[in-house]
Amino acid sequence: MPTTAMFNPIDPAFIQDPYPAYAFLREYSPVHFEPALGGWFVTRYDDVRTVLTDPRTIRPPAGDMLLGRLPDEVRGELAWFEEKLATSLAFANPPEHGRLRALVARAFTPRTAERIRPEIERVTEQLLDDMAAKPDPDVLRDLAYPLPTIAVSRLIGVPDEDVEGLVGLVGDAMKIIGQALPSEDPIAAARNASLATEKIFDYLEDLIAWRRRTPEDDLISQIAATPGYDDAELILTVLVLINGSLETTAHFIGNATLALLRHPAQAALLREQPELIDSAVEELLRYDTPVPVTPPQLTTAPIMLSGRRVEAGQLLFPVIGAAHRDPVKYADPDRLDITRDPPGTLAFGGGVHYCIGAVMARLEAKVALPALFGRFPELRLTETTPLFRPDPVLRGLTAFPVHL
Ligand code: HEM
Repeated sequence: MPTTAMFNPIDPAFIQDPYPAYAFLREYSPVHFEPALGGWFVTRYDDVRTVLTDPRTIRPPAGDMLLGRLPDEVRGELAWFEEKLATSLAFANPPEHGRLRALVARAFTPRTAERIRPEIERVTEQLLDDMAAKPDPDVLRDLAYPLPTIAVSRLIGVPDEDVEGLVGLVGDAMKIIGQALPSEDPIAAARNASLATEKIFDYLEDLIAWRRRTPEDDLISQIAATPGYDDAELILTVLVLINGSLETTAHFIGNATLALLRHPAQAALLREQPELIDSAVEELLRYDTPVPVTPPQLTTAPIMLSGRRVEAGQLLFPVIGAAHRDPVKYADPDRLDITRDPPGTLAFGGGVHYCIGAVMARLEAKVALPALFGRFPELRLTETTPLFRPDPVLRGLTAFPVHL
């Protein structure tokens, strides 16, 4: 990703701690044009909320956003992939978006989440047993990644033996989103993503056909029996669900654990009063959210943000990570306080694309964090300082070794 003098999203110091730069932007350039990205970084709480919720902003065409920097002939080769991306839940606009969302919305209510709670608790205990036996325990590898992977696969109905292969393909398909990163070869990543998407289609077409013949009590059987959608729509929705649920939740559990280990008094408070977990999860989502910048929104009409008029046809990047530390919204915003129960989180967005898995993500964290800190009262960082991945839009650690 390119840079300006004021804000360099790939500067290693920014990656490890973006909050001073966010504070600077919020104060001096709250609606900041970044020429190389062709869009505006928006950092104040009220403005970020407006960008996420105002119907004058919509998703720009997915292909332009994700494949726009590829040479024309490569983009032409990927026309099939581009069409699939553009019609998926995460990139569609109303009214089409609402039709797609209705397909799966029923599976993500608080009631359905409570139904899967015992399973999430059981899986967490098993993962912690396994972690305790490891010579080199790692919070990400041993708990934060496998928990959401198992949870979403069971909810959808992916047979256990296929999970690893399918999740690997989804990772390849979605690496395209990381193409802004300097280490990526954008052409190879796009071709690889297209190939992985074709393989996902082959696999899920078979799974859907199988569940039409022999339905189970799972999401895939339910959507396969819903009239009015074609198979490509079902498959893309499943793909977006898997992709949306894994790294986000994993890095939330990772970032939250790190924040607590760096604030031992807060960790001790949570151990003494586990009933604080609801407010702790909201505060940890505020303090170091794993999705600090959402996909950009396109203005369809002029819009005022912090006194600046942004014309129609402009890209706006809502910087949730900056909004969450806005002192106008949150008193003493750089302080972690698990008792504050901060209102108005934007961690899951806010408008029509509001995270469909928010209830499930919160549930997983509410099970995993008290279980981890309860099981290992001596849990602490190793001598190696954990490092954040060089990714300005999905914030999480590269690895997270700990002493138990
Ligand atoms: C802590 C974990 C998570 C965070 C921080 C998170 C955050 C987000 C954000 C910021 C958005 C975009 C909102 C917008 O543009 O307004 C989003 C959308 C989405 N998320 Fe999550 N998410 C998390 C977990 C999950 C889980 C567990 C699932 C699935 C089970 C999921 C599935 C999705 C889907 C499908 C969308 C697109 C929804 C739409 O376009 O209508 N997410 N999420």
